[in-house]
Amino acid sequence: MTRIAVYPGSFDPITRGHEDLIRRSLEFVDRLIVAVAVNVAKQPLFSLDERVQLIEATVPDKRVEVRSFEGLLAEFAKKVNAAVIVRGLRAVSDFEYEFQMALMNRNLAPKIETVFLVPAFDLTYLSSSLVREVARFGGDVSQLVDPVVQRALKRKFELPR
Ligand code: PNS
Repeated sequence: MTRIAVYPGSFDPITRGHEDLIRRSLEFVDRLIVAVAVNVAKQPLFSLDERVQLIEATVPDKRVEVRSFEGLLAEFAKKVNAAVIVRGLRAVSDFEYEFQMALMNRNLAPKIETVFLVPAFDLTYLSSSLVREVARFGGDVSQLVDPVVQRALKRKFELPR
């Protein structure tokens, strides 16, 4: 039996923290679907297509598929036959929202388990929003994102490459 997991998020853009979680997930699943949300509540920096392409360029692994989804995550996870939803827990501040979301997703899809993974220690503070903020003002994000993403950020903010 192929164990499929969904790793959902906004990925605006993918960071080294996301990459770390993808690597960790592949230790216990056969296939990982990175599910990029068409997040109606947020105005993303990168378009849906750009976010998908940046993940594909950053994570060239045959076991990883990048898809976008609209609507409920639970419905998408059922549709792709996922057994697991993967989410990262960085700090206590993440917990309440993640706990609520996990319980609601269980309500909507009782057979799918949410699994929380802890990122590498040096990536704990990292978030896409911090990366966007630092890059916007020309700060160095080379340790925080793949070079492909770094170039895309520079293009977006029209900074010298
Ligand atoms: O990276 P993010 O922004 O923290 O990811 C949040 C995301 C996309 C996983 C969450 O907002 C989501 O699942 N959105 C899809 C809509 C949905 O299912 N909402 C109810 C969750 S209980």
